[in-house]
Amino acid sequence: MRMVTKDDLDLDKLPGHIAIIMDGNGRWAKKQGLLRAAGHERGTRSVREVVEGCAQLGIPYLTLYAFSTENWNRPKLEVDTLMRLLVSSLKKEIKTLQKNDISLNTIGNINSLPKKAQSELEEVIKKTKNNKRLRLTLALSYGAREEVLNTVKEICLKVKNNIISVDEIDESCINKHLYTHDLPEVDLLIRTSGEQRVSNFLLWQIAYAEFYFTDVLWPDFTQAHLHDAIFNYQKRERRFGKTSEQLH
Ligand code: IPE
Ligand code: IPE
Ligand code: MG
Repeated sequence: MRMVTKDDLDLDKLPGHIAIIMDGNGRWAKKQGLLRAAGHERGTRSVREVVEGCAQLGIPYLTLYAFSTENWNRPKLEVDTLMRLLVSSLKKEIKTLQKNDISLNTIGNINSLPKKAQSELEEVIKKTKNNKRLRLTLALSYGAREEVLNTVKEICLKVKNNIISVDEIDESCINKHLYTHDLPEVDLLIRTSGEQRVSNFLLWQIAYAEFYFTDVLWPDFTQAHLHDAIFNYQKRERRFGKTSEQLH
């Protein structure tokens, strides 16, 4: 079967916000008889592919799940490799971000990252902050339950200090206190590697997202696969609780 290309996509019906659970680096490496680190390394190529692919299509928001709160429980050697890879990728990719007019943003418990990673992130965020084409968000040491917990605590504190009243707590108030306060809801959630679960990613924000699962392992994921996911998304009817007849 012919692969979907960019020309097959309806540019008026692009998802405004794509989120990706980039999974399968370890299995990719194992298949090649390599160490898991090689899979993570190769995975950075796919990151570049989708970031550039989204920028070229004109997708305004892309959020990538790079490291979960649970991933801290992996062997120290693997965690260290991932953190080192983060720093080296940021150094290497700043030019690509500038060239494609992409701004960088993070969600998650950034303070828990190694100092070197924090300072590198800060620098890239600062340098790219005026870029307009695409907002790239990296979820790092991110857990949706932790995010919700922080949100509840912050709101409780404001109520306690009489900054807001209980009646003022509505959905928009919750949105404002999430890590994702300046991002729109997710339209399309992609997970690679064949796993069909959310793994503590963006729980609130995916309430009405379309899910796309593919068996492709993250290091093998290319722009063609991205186009395929978007093409599939464009064929769906998003009803948001209404009937199909109401929409037409
Ligand atoms: C995704 O690939 C990268 C991270 C979770 C950091 P994995 O490392 O989870 O790869 P698999 O799932 O073991 O193949
Ligand atoms: C989810 O992948 C986290 C990231 C992609 C960063 P995992 O490989 O950690 O998820 P589980 O453990 O298979 O659910
Ligand atoms: Mg995995």
